[in-house]
Amino acid sequence: MKISITKAEQSRISELDFDNLDFGRIFSDHMFEMAYSDGKWHSAVIKPYGPITFEPSMMALHYGQAIFEGMKAYHVNHDTIQLFRPQDHHARLNNSARRLCMPEIDESVFINALEELLKLDHEWVPKKHGQALYIRPVMFATEEYLAAKVSQEYRFFIITSPVGAYYNEGFNPVKLTTSDQYVRAVKGGTGEAKAAGNYGGSFLPALRAQQNGYTQVLWLDANEHKYIEEVGTMNIFFLIGDTLITPGLEGTVLPGITRRSVITLAKEWEVTVEERKISIDELFDAYRSGTLKEIFGAGTAAVISPVGLVHHQGNTIDLDMEKIGPFAKRMYDAITGIQYGKVEDSHGWAHPVDVTTSVYH
Ligand code: COI
Repeated sequence: MKISITKAEQSRISELDFDNLDFGRIFSDHMFEMAYSDGKWHSAVIKPYGPITFEPSMMALHYGQAIFEGMKAYHVNHDTIQLFRPQDHHARLNNSARRLCMPEIDESVFINALEELLKLDHEWVPKKHGQALYIRPVMFATEEYLAAKVSQEYRFFIITSPVGAYYNEGFNPVKLTTSDQYVRAVKGGTGEAKAAGNYGGSFLPALRAQQNGYTQVLWLDANEHKYIEEVGTMNIFFLIGDTLITPGLEGTVLPGITRRSVITLAKEWEVTVEERKISIDELFDAYRSGTLKEIFGAGTAAVISPVGLVHHQGNTIDLDMEKIGPFAKRMYDAITGIQYGKVEDSHGWAHPVDVTTSVYH
């Protein structure tokens, strides 16, 4: 699909303080956009980032057909930036689309849109380790219709934002609490899709957690309120003894791409990895018996985020950590090493983009 490009008359990059990057507050000069109607995607454009207009009857606002992805571009050198596993993000976007009866996108269209957008806005990719250009592809229903049914029209955008650490704690340990009252996902629901509504539904419990001094909620399963699932903003890992344990993908957990990378690397390091049900009681038992060594989260925005404290029904696991644990640090170094092109990428995860070439400009 040909992309028609309109460049911004003037770049806003001079307004950016690369030393103080908030997560997702400032957006680069351009955005990608295409529309879906009559059964096909069309009208692909890259244009200056800016407001969009829609009718109040736009279906996404009423019935929540909205999905997204979270990816990052990393600075390698003057000529090259890298995406991390973009084909996997594309596959997950299409999985989410199928769950919400939305149209799929061809891999070549998705990758080409990313590459062309990044070539145009490559100067927005921050250069420091730990910083990146966050990429937010988003698809939503645009038909103007109030019947509760599948929309026949959609819009797909890609916007980008230079970012540092996701959590206010930076890369220091975060504090999690379970919620007695709320759940994030239920089997058969949309928990494994990257659906916008999954996030909106978690804000009230997350706010309660924050009011009580915790960074995020550690979600338990909806049926028994017993098994650990994920954090909503990241997947979760436990190093118990010498075994790395993470909740399995049984329909309620987002299949994280960083999660998958952690599992692959840990197995290569000959660490036993178990993807299985882990109850909150098992976690507290491991803590009390002294075998719980580390807890960390994994996600595109969160990268590898150490967890220092877990609260559950008045009891607390306090790992007494000031910094990231040695296993999480090794994982952080290995994954970011590949992402920034500092460590050999033997898995083909890195997707270099030569920013000096473009078929369009
Ligand atoms: C990501 O890690 O990319 C996400 O989409 C999580 C979001 C809470 C920022």
